[in-house]
Amino acid sequence: MPAKQKRIAIVVHGGAGEDSEFLRKHKKEYEKGIEKAMNAGYNVLAKNGSAVDAVEQAVIELENSPIFNAGRGSALNALGQVEMDAAIMDGKTMNSGAVALLQNVKNPISLAKAIMLNTKYRFLGAHGALDYAKRIHTSLEPDSYFITEYQYDEYAKKVKEEFLDTKEIALDEINQRYHGTVGAVALDEDGNLAASTSTGGTPNAKEGRIGDSCVIGAGCYANNDRCAISGTGDGEFLIKSVLAHSISACIAYKKMSVQEACDYVIFKENKKIDGDIGAICLDKAGNIGIAFNSERMIRGYKATGKRPFIKIYK
Ligand code: GLY
Repeated sequence: MPAKQKRIAIVVHGGAGEDSEFLRKHKKEYEKGIEKAMNAGYNVLAKNGSAVDAVEQAVIELENSPIFNAGRGSALNALGQVEMDAAIMDGKTMNSGAVALLQNVKNPISLAKAIMLNTKYRFLGAHGALDYAKRIHTSLEPDSYFITEYQYDEYAKKVKEEFLDTKEIALDEINQRYHGTVGAVALDEDGNLAASTSTGGTPNAKEGRIGDSCVIGAGCYANNDRCAISGTGDGEFLIKSVLAHSISACIAYKKMSVQEACDYVIFKENKKIDGDIGAICLDKAGNIGIAFNSERMIRGYKATGKRPFIKIYK
């Protein structure tokens, strides 16, 4: 039996984007939320749990919190409904599971994991995903559980603006101004990597809009030989830049470190992109890469040999 590798690490994020009055007012709660998620993931790893279980537990904490845009607290679409996307990827097997346009499932990330582990599929959407959730007795919640006062106010404000403003507000413009996502990457004692990403999408988006979070290679990617990545920001741009896979390709083919790869893809390769993008990245040596071009990215990590770290702004 090869000796166990002892280095463990978890990195989490609660979304990149613009600063806001809401965020400044609730800064402490955001920091506490990230700390709780970090600890939940780290506790799994410390008990010799898998990287897959660690990234699931970290994201469950963020999905259960009403202040992050995922699970409870998800943004409302143009019809005032919640539609959630999530994905998880195991760097050891490179298997993944994803859900899109999901309603009423308390923890989309756990459903994505169940799809990865227990079905022949990689991606289930809308009513098919909900039907599978019911069959496996996943926790469900009524619509009212997901709709927070903050997200309802954001929705109502946009509806009012659209009707009262003489200047028409384009959907694209709305999408670019408000977004959020949560995610985690982890390294376990056996040297395995995993990534998870979950979101309520962008406020007032057209119903049926799907972002990057559930798209493997864009908002989520893990490969033991390269790294694990969770992306955040304007989903349309993350899809356009195939963000997560591009970062991993820089590590594989250009022999960059995880930090160099994040910086290269976000600040050089995509410098002409007029949108917010961010990523957290981890390799199997426990090296951490974090980069974002937005005003803030709520993020934190806990890792062997490193001081726990939590930060919101640059
Ligand atoms: N990054 C989340 C989304 O655009 O849906």
